[in-house]
Amino acid sequence: MAIMRLGRVQLRCPNWEKSVHYYKNVLGLIETARDENHVYLKAWDERDHHSVILEKADSAGLDHLAFKVENAEDLDYYEKKLIEYGVQEVDRIPAGYRIAEGEAVRFRVPTGQLVELYHEIEVVGNGLPLVNPDPWPDGLVGMAPPRLDHLLIAGDDVEGTSNLFMDVFGFNMAERLVTEEGEEYIATWLFKTNTPHDLAVIKGPQGKVHHVGFWLDDWNEIRKAADLMAKNDVMIDAGPTRHGITRGLTIYFFDPSGNRNEVYTGGYMCYPDSPTVTWTTADIGRGIFYFEGEVNERFTTVFS
Ligand SMILES: [Fe+2]
Repeated sequence: MAIMRLGRVQLRCPNWEKSVHYYKNVLGLIETARDENHVYLKAWDERDHHSVILEKADSAGLDHLAFKVENAEDLDYYEKKLIEYGVQEVDRIPAGYRIAEGEAVRFRVPTGQLVELYHEIEVVGNGLPLVNPDPWPDGLVGMAPPRLDHLLIAGDDVEGTSNLFMDVFGFNMAERLVTEEGEEYIATWLFKTNTPHDLAVIKGPQGKVHHVGFWLDDWNEIRKAADLMAKNDVMIDAGPTRHGITRGLTIYFFDPSGNRNEVYTGGYMCYPDSPTVTWTTADIGRGIFYFEGEVNERFTTVFS
C-alpha cells in the first residue's frame, strides 16, 4: 500500500485567459483537455493525462491537491485508515467526475486543504518512445518543466497535518523549522519519494497555498527560466537563489491570477532512515534564502 507521488493540483484562476496563456506558453505545460471551466495540463515528462487543472474562478487559490496511489485497492485501505485516524470529511469522488480520471478518495487535512487519493488516470505518455528515446521531445515551449515537484500548503495546525501524512501514509520528515525554544513547528518538509519534499506545510492562513513547485533539471535551466520571466513580464517574488532548507536552487514568481509558482532543482536524496534536519527561526533568513540571508515581506505574507 503506497502513495507514489504528488499527482495533481487544481488551481483557481480569476485572470482566466492570461493564466491559461501563461501556463501553456510561458511556464510551458501541455494542454491535454478542457471543458467550459477547466483546462487540463501536464508537464512534458509526466506520462499521466494531467497534473495541473486550471479552474475558472472568482479568486485565486488551491481547489485541492492529489496523490496517486500504487494500486486500486489502496483507496479502500487508506479510506478505512483515514476514518480510523479520525480524519474529517472522508468522501468518494466518482469516476468520470473529472476528464480521464477514475474514482478518488477525498478528505480534509487539519490545515484546511482538500486532499484526494486516486489510482486510475488515462496514460498519454511523455512524447518519447520506450526504446532508444531521445532526451526530450520536439516542440517544448517556455520553461518546460519535466514534472510537478511539490507543494507548500499553509494553515494553523502544521503538526496535525504533518503527523497525518507521516502516521497514515508513511511520509518522512526531511527538515523542519521550529521556534527558537524548539517547541513549535513553523514549517515541515515531508517526503514519500526520495526528494526532500513532496509536500511542505507552513504556519499561515488556514487552507491556503504558498506555492506550487515545478522541477527543472539544473541551474542553467533556472537561469533560462529567469530570462523567460523577464521577457514575458512575469512578476518575480524572489531569486534566482538557493535555499538553505533542502539546498534547492529556486525562483519564486506569480501566475497572472496571483498564485505563486516556483521552479526548483537540486536538493539531495532522502531515504526512510535519513535524519530530520532542524532549522530554528534564529537562522530563518539563511534557511529560506541562503544567499540573501533574509526573507522579503511578500514571501511570508502573500498566500492564495
Ligand atoms: Fe518550494
